[in-house]
Amino acid sequence: MPFPLNCDTLWSGATVVTMRDGKYHEILDGALAVKHGKIVWLGPRSEIPDITAQQHHHLNGGVVMPGFIDCHTHLIFGGDRSAEFEKRLNGVSYAQIAAEGGGILSTVRATRKASEDELLQSARQRLSCLLAEGVTSVEIKSGYGLDIDNEIKMLRVIRQLGEQIPADVLATCLAAHAVPPEFSGDADGWVSVVCEQLLPRVKQQNLADAVDAFCEHLAFSPAQTERVFRAARELGLPVKLHAEQLSALAGSSLAARFNALSADHLEYATEDDARAMAASQTVAVLLPGAFYLLREKQHPPVAAFRKYGVPMAIASDANPGTSPALSLRLMLNMACTLFGLTPEEALAGVTLNAAKALGIHTSHGSLEVGKVANFVHWPVARPAELVYWLGGQLPCTVIYQGEKRESSL
Ligand code: NIG
Ligand code: FE
Repeated sequence: MPFPLNCDTLWSGATVVTMRDGKYHEILDGALAVKHGKIVWLGPRSEIPDITAQQHHHLNGGVVMPGFIDCHTHLIFGGDRSAEFEKRLNGVSYAQIAAEGGGILSTVRATRKASEDELLQSARQRLSCLLAEGVTSVEIKSGYGLDIDNEIKMLRVIRQLGEQIPADVLATCLAAHAVPPEFSGDADGWVSVVCEQLLPRVKQQNLADAVDAFCEHLAFSPAQTERVFRAARELGLPVKLHAEQLSALAGSSLAARFNALSADHLEYATEDDARAMAASQTVAVLLPGAFYLLREKQHPPVAAFRKYGVPMAIASDANPGTSPALSLRLMLNMACTLFGLTPEEALAGVTLNAAKALGIHTSHGSLEVGKVANFVHWPVARPAELVYWLGGQLPCTVIYQGEKRESSL
């Protein structure tokens, strides 16, 4: 590196937890130099090179970590489903509610009625809770429109959020989320519309960064999922999948065959699925909020993911039905207590592995020279503390693309 080093901002005096390779790699009394929104140097404060910085922030302790990445959310929706929550606690199952036209389809009705602006404002509010906890990148799915115009409407709102919010917002087209009422009994008919009409338009208008589907008995079969994946592949869009949430259909193996970025949920995934996912480095996105809310008993095969080297991510799955979760830190705790992840694995799950699940890991997810300067200064002594507290607030300072982000939106 040529010295002296010129940078815009130097941050020093905190423990820098880089999460390189998905491990803590703590730098005690560390420092980080940022130029043009990127990290240009990091290391122990005692080894700071001959550096000229426009600004120098002395942090006086605490932990600096990569900004959190929530790689699976359904943050855009109309209405809420607290009545359904109540129904479930009176003994009616999620599948039963869906079969009676409730569940996802009730959110579809409310989302179709809502204007772009209404969707935008309500999503902004929910998003502000995530951002207050150090989230700097978030993925948001469509999937509550379920006709061409309303799916496009949702995706446009996601793109607008991306323009308005100081965070990276990635859009995923989840048109194959449920069979629309207009296609009741004809899932294949809707899949044809998705493949032949919707996805080409989405691609042409650059409205999505990836394509997702819900592969499950109450949604789409593996064969229908495969049709969606083929259409996405032809358009050059990466795929991901809601797989093995309620039953084992080998959807995650199918996703792996299509080099999916991720397969998500996975409570019913098998050892074979884990092997297939390892081969394609498809990320296992674990969603403890949905597991918890549905009072699921089957655990995702974490031991198999470890054994075969499948990267694991953790996300909020924020949605009105199965995971009205607006705290990624709570999800970290639940991934440890419910699924047995270590705090280090859980934190890798909202940093480097979440970046992999979105295909942005060469620029995001860890603190390394050349990567985008998205990081958070936390008032804690050890990174595990971020996972340990249940609820409460840990006021943090968020640096987004090298700039301090205002605490309120
Ligand atoms: O990720 N599994 C399917 N989709 C959502 C649930 C959406 C809903 O119930 O509204 C999920 O859990
Ligand atoms: Fe989901």
